[in-house]
Amino acid sequence: MLKCTNKTMKKHKMLLVMVSVVLFVACADKPTDYLALTPPNENTNDLIEARVADLLSKMTLEEKIGQMNQYNGFWDVTGPTPQGGDAAKKYKHLRKGYVGSMLNVTGVKEVRAVQKIAVEETRLGIPLIIGFDVIHGYKTISPIPLAEAASWDLKAIKHSAQIAAEEASAAGINWTFAPMVDVSRDARWGRVMEGAGEDPFLGSQIAIARVEGFQGDDLSKFNTVAACAKHFAGYGFSESGRDYNTVDVGTSTLNNIIFPPFEAATKAGVRTFMNSFNELNGIPATGNKFLQRDILKGKWNFDGFVVSDWGSILEMQAHGYAKDGKQAAELAINGGSDMDMESYLYVEELANLIKEGKVDEALITDAARRILRVKFELGLFDDPYRYLDEQREKEVTGKTEFQEAVLDMAKKSIVLLKNENNLLPLKNSGQKIALIGALANDKTSPLGSWRVGADDGTAVSVLEGMKAYSGNKVSYSKGADVSVGKTEFGTELTINTTDKSGFPQAISEAKNADVVVMVLGEHGLQSGEGRSRTDLGLPGVQQELLEAVYKVNKNIILVLQNGRPLILNWADEHIPAIVEAWHLGTQSGNAIAQVLYGDYNPSGKLPMTFPRNVGQVPIYYNYKHTGRPTLPGQDVVFWSHYQDVENSPLYVFGHGLSYTNFEYSDLKITVNAKERVTVAFSLKNTGERKGKEVAQLYLNDMFASVTRPVKELKAFELVDLNPKESKRIEFTLAKDELGFFNNEGDFVLEPGDFKVFVGGSSAAKLEQKFELK
Ligand code: NOJ
Repeated sequence: MLKCTNKTMKKHKMLLVMVSVVLFVACADKPTDYLALTPPNENTNDLIEARVADLLSKMTLEEKIGQMNQYNGFWDVTGPTPQGGDAAKKYKHLRKGYVGSMLNVTGVKEVRAVQKIAVEETRLGIPLIIGFDVIHGYKTISPIPLAEAASWDLKAIKHSAQIAAEEASAAGINWTFAPMVDVSRDARWGRVMEGAGEDPFLGSQIAIARVEGFQGDDLSKFNTVAACAKHFAGYGFSESGRDYNTVDVGTSTLNNIIFPPFEAATKAGVRTFMNSFNELNGIPATGNKFLQRDILKGKWNFDGFVVSDWGSILEMQAHGYAKDGKQAAELAINGGSDMDMESYLYVEELANLIKEGKVDEALITDAARRILRVKFELGLFDDPYRYLDEQREKEVTGKTEFQEAVLDMAKKSIVLLKNENNLLPLKNSGQKIALIGALANDKTSPLGSWRVGADDGTAVSVLEGMKAYSGNKVSYSKGADVSVGKTEFGTELTINTTDKSGFPQAISEAKNADVVVMVLGEHGLQSGEGRSRTDLGLPGVQQELLEAVYKVNKNIILVLQNGRPLILNWADEHIPAIVEAWHLGTQSGNAIAQVLYGDYNPSGKLPMTFPRNVGQVPIYYNYKHTGRPTLPGQDVVFWSHYQDVENSPLYVFGHGLSYTNFEYSDLKITVNAKERVTVAFSLKNTGERKGKEVAQLYLNDMFASVTRPVKELKAFELVDLNPKESKRIEFTLAKDELGFFNNEGDFVLEPGDFKVFVGGSSAAKLEQKFELK
């Protein structure tokens, strides 16, 4: 019997690689032989490397550059082929093998048509990699990423990415431009909806969950897609929250706040990165060598590829960094961007730049290698049509299991912000409920922003969700529109209307009701890319509507639908119950109804701080002490504070209530010899209902060579507890978790005093000190 030691295994693997390559090379006369000869499921790294190397050796410079070129879908593939203009040029490029990837081509029929050209009409038959923004689902939409982050439920988030991958891959998509792992502290920035909020630790855990969910354990499986960590880097720190704006951040913030989720995604094996539109400290990210070559491909050893953002290579001219397109291409490739999304510059300029000696050909080979590697990993060379099965697409799209999963995710994402006198949950019968607000009857808005694959009108509205509960009498009135105009997706939107004609009916219905449920907030397309706002109040006349209704009935449950933290001072002061329901996707209305009626006990916690006013932004829980920290209630002038509002936010990071209550006690810290710190405490459900609590642990490194935040989230756990049940929770912090990056970018662990805080939010009060020797 053959005994497999490590050594013999290595030998066999090498032999297999050599035999495969010899066979493969010997028989590969025709381009498509690459496809036929490759043994399926032999995607070991060595074999892939050998196959990539062999293919590269056969490619012309132009073909390698072609792999680095990505075009948006440019013609209706079911119609006639393009005859003139840019489309005809792109078509020609496609047939010559000068296109490596396409985006926004979806559905088996469409993808098959473009893939067929790449595989059957080009010299080498190299398949395309098809990319798409599957940000929070493809057709079946899960909550916006910020909402999912509010669940703090990594398993559920991973599952959400898994089903998105399954549905998208069934439509021929190989690659999603997600997850967005940009940390942001600025609610004005519309894209906060697309990320995991303000915290680098939570953000890193979620980045890992999403990458693992999209990619699975084997990229070549037909139900997985390659993921893309974006936008590298600093995009979430766009000045004044204005999209695409300048980013200027110091080393400490870059290393300790911005980078961690990207590094976590790299370690989780993310296969692609996208750079960003912004400049970072004077250098556009797209041409930024430090980011892409030194950090990503150097320090982190990333061996996948980097795609530019849409036209971001060209935009380096507008930045004032490149004098023309040619120089932009030079700066981008030298800076580490491997693929050009829609700037058309690599395909036009790179070959000349090489001839002129401005770009080293080795960089082109390296970029093409990275791209081909991922294509091999996806199994595209084994069968380029493997993702293209119309029957599967039909069976998979929108299937029941997906609906159940997005419903579950939606419920988990809801955050109960306030619940005075237990107004919630609603009684099941005998009540007159006035349901008010245009959003309550909207079947598109709950899909949120960045759901390009989904069809308008496919979400369950709150009104529909409430109908499942027939014991109460529910009346509906719109009160006011949310929002007038067309978005780029063609959806009609009435933004910031001043029309109050719906007020009287809403008021009269509220007068006659026992309870009023008001669904207010932002339309799904009021957040997202290019949708920055300086006023974070309720858009239009919604605030007036709320106050008018309040005058006649104080029993209001405010259900918020929004893609970012809003300013809610008045509501917090007057409205007894507030539910943060974000944009929850396809099953939105069902999830909201189940939470309102108490069939689901909410457990979500805010992944972003909710400010008291826009003047406080950027605002975040892990701020620095300053030399003049102001204590609450301290009535002094020369301390770090505002004259008109207190420093604290309205709702802190990590805040979220339940229909039951939790109590934290008996904190005990043990530091053992291996510099492991064990933090144990008791958590009790003191109420009458079963509930789930996100127990959170924060750390403060009290004195360090580079000042540390007042608190940093270091661990959390979702704990299910029956009424009156108590559990001992234990977190172990390893050495790594106590350190930080210094200003040289080195990770350091400094001995000294630390404080630990445990609780149900970043305002955790139970604390204890320990010393690390
Ligand atoms: C621009 C966005 O910034 C990016 O996130 C997205 O993936 C691309 N467009 C492609 O749609």
